[in-house]
Amino acid sequence: MHSDILRIVGIGEAMVELSPAGEGLYRLGFAGDTFNTAWHLAQLLGGRASVGFCTRIGTDATSQRFVSELKRDGLDTKVVGRDKSKHMGLYMIELNGTERSFQYWRGESAAKSLANKSAKLEQDQAGADLIHISGITVAILPPHAREKLLRTLSTARRTGTRISFDPNVRPALWSSLDKARNATLDFVAIADIVLPSFDDERLLWGDSNPTQTVRRYRDLGVAETVVKNGSDPVTCATPGEQHWLPTPAVSGIVDTTGAGDAFNAGYLAARCQELGQTEAVAAGQAVSAEVLKSAGARAHRDTIRALGLRLFGSQPEVAARRDDITLDDGAALD
Ligand SMILES: Nc1ncnc2c1ncn2[C@@H]1O[C@H](COP(=O)(O)OP(=O)(O)O)[C@@H](O)[C@H]1O
Ligand SMILES: [Mg+2]
Repeated sequence: MHSDILRIVGIGEAMVELSPAGEGLYRLGFAGDTFNTAWHLAQLLGGRASVGFCTRIGTDATSQRFVSELKRDGLDTKVVGRDKSKHMGLYMIELNGTERSFQYWRGESAAKSLANKSAKLEQDQAGADLIHISGITVAILPPHAREKLLRTLSTARRTGTRISFDPNVRPALWSSLDKARNATLDFVAIADIVLPSFDDERLLWGDSNPTQTVRRYRDLGVAETVVKNGSDPVTCATPGEQHWLPTPAVSGIVDTTGAGDAFNAGYLAARCQELGQTEAVAAGQAVSAEVLKSAGARAHRDTIRALGLRLFGSQPEVAARRDDITLDDGAALD
């Protein structure tokens, strides 16, 4: 650990979310897998951690609103890059009865160029105790930028940063499953903690059960693996330990979006504070239960802050942040 205050960085894309609010109206929000995890981590850990979300957004009013929300909720925005010529990606949720479908406008999003500059990545990652990325972070990047991210992460790791990776497989973001497999393996090779969901692993690797998933990652050299599996038990391992931990029933489930991202936040918050794997899984389950009980990918801020206090004890106040964010020109390569 580099100092008393943990430094955590999530890397990826946050999108503008339009969700139906009745009578043809839509509510504007922000969501994205690593963003959801970083946001919950910031609420859970409060003043114990500085949690940044490394991404790229535009300079338009909606991008500004995103930054204002990050600051309001206590996240570090110094690692947010801005691009004058681009906007945030957007998705819209359509409801057909209780069935949800999604339409995406993200092909040209600013976040796709978040890893174009190695120097910026190195600066954003410097001194981090933990960096969290996902298969979606990897999938949205062009190959040259993916290489830069991989290189800078392995350098950070050599200086003591732990890397956590949720494979979050999204076939629609890849031209073939083979490409998804190869890129996943590249990032698994530099990950200390892998946090897959079993459905994704069955799809990408044909695993027949979560124990097989845990073994596969162990054989690839991953020290710590946690396999989520909806309402079924969590199967997880660290060197010398293996656990199969039932998932407590959750009543009043409203929406399963973001359950895995929230689980990651609870688990990582606990592990960053040196708690054991069993306690960390319980923390992950507790955070995802709150997300399941509320609409959208994130639970209410006060609910998660209160849960952080319950799980991890008293902590310094979360202050809204005022630091300025990076403004550089375009997304030129270095
Ligand atoms: N129906 C459910 N009942 C209770 N907990 C659930 C349920 N669905 C998900 N969870 C919780 O959320 C975690 C992640 O869910 P999962 O569906 O595996 O991930 P993802 O959202 O990535 O697909 C689970 O490990 C569990 O703690
Ligand atoms: Mg997931």
